[in-house]
Amino acid sequence: MYAQMIKSEKSQDDPEKLAAFQQRIDDGEKIEPKDWMPEGYRKTLIRQIGQHAHSEIVGQLPEGNWITRAPTLERKAILLAKVQDEAGHGLYLYCAAETLGVSRDQLTRDLLSGKMKYSSIFNYPTLTWADMGAVGWLVDGAAIMNQVPLQRTSYGPYARAMVRICKEESFHQRQGFDIMMKMANGTEAQRKMAQDALNRFWYPSLMMFGPSDANSVHSEQNMAWKIKMNTNDELRQKFVDQTAPQAAFLGLNIPDEHLKWNEERGHYDFSEPDWDEFFDVLRGNGPCSVERMEARNKAWDDGAWVRDGLMAHAAKKKARRVAAE
Ligand code: 3HC
Repeated sequence: MYAQMIKSEKSQDDPEKLAAFQQRIDDGEKIEPKDWMPEGYRKTLIRQIGQHAHSEIVGQLPEGNWITRAPTLERKAILLAKVQDEAGHGLYLYCAAETLGVSRDQLTRDLLSGKMKYSSIFNYPTLTWADMGAVGWLVDGAAIMNQVPLQRTSYGPYARAMVRICKEESFHQRQGFDIMMKMANGTEAQRKMAQDALNRFWYPSLMMFGPSDANSVHSEQNMAWKIKMNTNDELRQKFVDQTAPQAAFLGLNIPDEHLKWNEERGHYDFSEPDWDEFFDVLRGNGPCSVERMEARNKAWDDGAWVRDGLMAHAAKKKARRVAAE
C-alpha cells in the first residue's frame, strides 16, 4: 500500500494519468484502494471520510445523554440500538479511510487535537426527551439526504460503507419521527416540548449541509471527482421540500416566517440559517464544543489500558510465534 502511494506521488503531475483517472470517474467506474489516484483525491477523501467518521462518533454524545432517562423500556432499547449503530458507522468509515493509508489512531489524534472537524450539529445540546425525536427526524433526516447520493460516490470502500449506513439511518429517521408523532399528539406540555425541539434544531439541521454554494470551498473539485454528488444548496433545498410537509402533518410550525411553497420554482422558499453562527461553531465556539471534546478526550484516556493490554497481548503472541519458527 505505502509503496503504491510513493509510486503514485512521483507521477502526480503526469497529465496522461490524470486524464485517464478522470475518464474512469466520468465512466462511472469505482476507484479501489490499490488503484493510482491523484494525491488531492486521496487527501480529500481522508478529510471527508474522517470528518464523517468523527461525526458518527461524537454524534453518540447528545443522544447517549438520554439513554438513562428514556421514558419507557422500549424507547430505551430503541435509543440504545440507535446509538450503537452510530458507533458502528464510525468504525466502517474509519476502516474505509484506512484503505487510503491513514491510521485510525492518527485520525483520532487529529480529532482530539482539534485539527479535524466533525459535524457542526453535534455542538448543540439535547435538553428534553423531545430532542431525541427532533434529532432522529431532522438530524438523521438531513444525514440521509446527504448520504444516499454518496452510495454512488467514486471511491469503492466509501460507497459500499454508505449502503449499510443509509439503511440504518432510515430506521433512525423513522424512530425520530415516531417520537415526534407521540409528542405532538400528546398532552399540551408534550406538544410544546416537540415544538420547542423543532425550534432549536431547525436551523442547525439546515447548517449540516455546509455553507451556501457561493462559500463552499471544495464542491467544484469534489463533484468532478464524484466524492460529492450534489451541491450543499441542492441538498438543503431537497431537505426543506421533504420536511415541510412532514412538519405540517405533525401539526408543528417550522420557525421560519418566510417558509412558503413557490409554485413557479416547484420548491419551498425558506430563510437561510445564520451563517455567522455556523462559522463560529466551526471555530470551536458552539454551545457544547468544549464539552464534546472533553468527553472524547476522556474516553480516549480511559481506554488507554485496553489499548495497552491488546498491544501487549499481540506482542507476546508475535514473540511466541517467532520463537517457535
Ligand atoms: N460541520 C462542520 N464542518 C463543515 C460542515 C458542517 N456541517 N459543513 C461544511 N463544513 C466545513 C468543511 O469541512 C470545510 O472545511 P475544511 O476545508 O476545513 O475541511 C468547510 O466547511 C467548507 O465547506 P465545503 O462545502 O467546501 O466542504 P465539503 O465539500 O466537504 O462539504 C459536507 C461539506 C457536505 C459536510 C461534505 O463533507 C460531506 O458530504 N461529508 C460527508 C457526510 C458527513 O460528513 N456527514 C456528517 C453528518 S452527521 C452524521 O452522519 C451522523 C449521523 O448519525 C446523523
